[in-house]
Amino acid sequence: MKCPHLGAQYNPFSGPHVEDPHPFYAELRRDAPVSFNPTLGMWLISRYEDICQVLKDPTRYSSADMGNVGSVIAPETQAVLAEGYPLADSLLNSDPPTHTRLRKLMGRGFSSQRIAAQERPIRAVAQELVDAFVHQGRADLVTQLAYPLPVRVILGMVGVPKEDMADIKHWCDDFFRMIFTRVPAEEQPPLARSWVTFQHYVARLIAARRSAPTDDLVSYLVTTDADGESLTLPELIIAIAGSLLAAGHETTTALLAQCWKQAMLQPGLWQRLREDRSLVPHLIEETLRFDSVTHGMIRTTTQEVQLAGVALPAGSRLLLLYASGSRDPALLADGDRFDISRHHPSHLGFGRGIHFCLGAPLARQEALIATNLLLDQLPDMRLAPNPDFGTMQNLAIRAIQHLPVEWTPR
Ligand code: HEM
Repeated sequence: MKCPHLGAQYNPFSGPHVEDPHPFYAELRRDAPVSFNPTLGMWLISRYEDICQVLKDPTRYSSADMGNVGSVIAPETQAVLAEGYPLADSLLNSDPPTHTRLRKLMGRGFSSQRIAAQERPIRAVAQELVDAFVHQGRADLVTQLAYPLPVRVILGMVGVPKEDMADIKHWCDDFFRMIFTRVPAEEQPPLARSWVTFQHYVARLIAARRSAPTDDLVSYLVTTDADGESLTLPELIIAIAGSLLAAGHETTTALLAQCWKQAMLQPGLWQRLREDRSLVPHLIEETLRFDSVTHGMIRTTTQEVQLAGVALPAGSRLLLLYASGSRDPALLADGDRFDISRHHPSHLGFGRGIHFCLGAPLARQEALIATNLLLDQLPDMRLAPNPDFGTMQNLAIRAIQHLPVEWTPR
């Protein structure tokens, strides 16, 4: 290892690493693939092989400590949180055997039939949203399509009225801010209050579906059982609020936006996609690889381990840099180049192993339908002059907040 302290320079919250972290990731992979960052208190793991080794070994690398990696919870915040429900294990922050049980119970809610049944609602919502701006000649595709589409789809699937969209957005934003960024103690109580309000909202939804089930996901989750076991109320709350409503939209919004941004940045690509729609799935996979929405995920060692020749004591926190692993030259040549002609590129965009993203088929379906609709309706779409994408990054997610485009209205 040429530079064991290189990782100390990493700042995922501001500065050049938010602008473009990839030159730094390349240095990390080359000179310090397992390197400690004292500010985060985490080891940065940047190579594809090392990340995969961690992901296939949940016994030694636990997900249980995944929650609240950002803020250090202050006593006043604890007092607010005490007004909510106890925080149960979720899919994302549990290990086997709890994870195996939760995945079995929730997994069937995402069966291929249930995802296929979403095709019509996705198409209808996407069409309604595009109809609202197609005559205007310009739009911000994040705020006018990439954000509302996945939110409305997941709300519809879960069984939440669309009038509650703004509240859910507010609660989810606060939830992510609390767990994935560093919030000072004095700013925490309102965020904790948001989480408690969100929990009570979901608890009311659960009660309503228990007494009058419909065909939505909440009804499925409250009635499902596997080998005689079902989800407890705190498990249902975190599953619905965290694993579905929160995990199910922000990431998909970012994927949609980043796909269209890449399609606009590459000369002639929009035209190529219009002429050959079989390339659209390649655009989606290459975006997941090249412009990874899930930037990093956390694991904790349960015992002393050796990773790439570095001894990590038990209790070490690792930040697995999926975005870096997906561009590793050991995985593919020329990984810093966006190229949709790669066939089935391997990437870590949806994770790997037992925690592989539950919502991946839904996200891919939304991206496919919405991209094809834009290709149909805005054939000469291009970036607006001097676009400001407003890139946001935290420990887990990297996303653009604006995608200003224009076209010739018909
Ligand atoms: C897990 C990314 C969409 C629900 C994951 C993981 C990644 C990921 C990387 C693995 C985390 C780990 O390694 O610990 C994404 C991206 C999405 C997306 C990039 C959109 C483009 C969705 C959607 C849903 C969802 C639409 C639900 C509606 C989940 C859940 C897990 C998960 C529940 C935890 C699975 C488990 O631990 O067994 N996602 N996700 N995701 N995702 Fe997604």
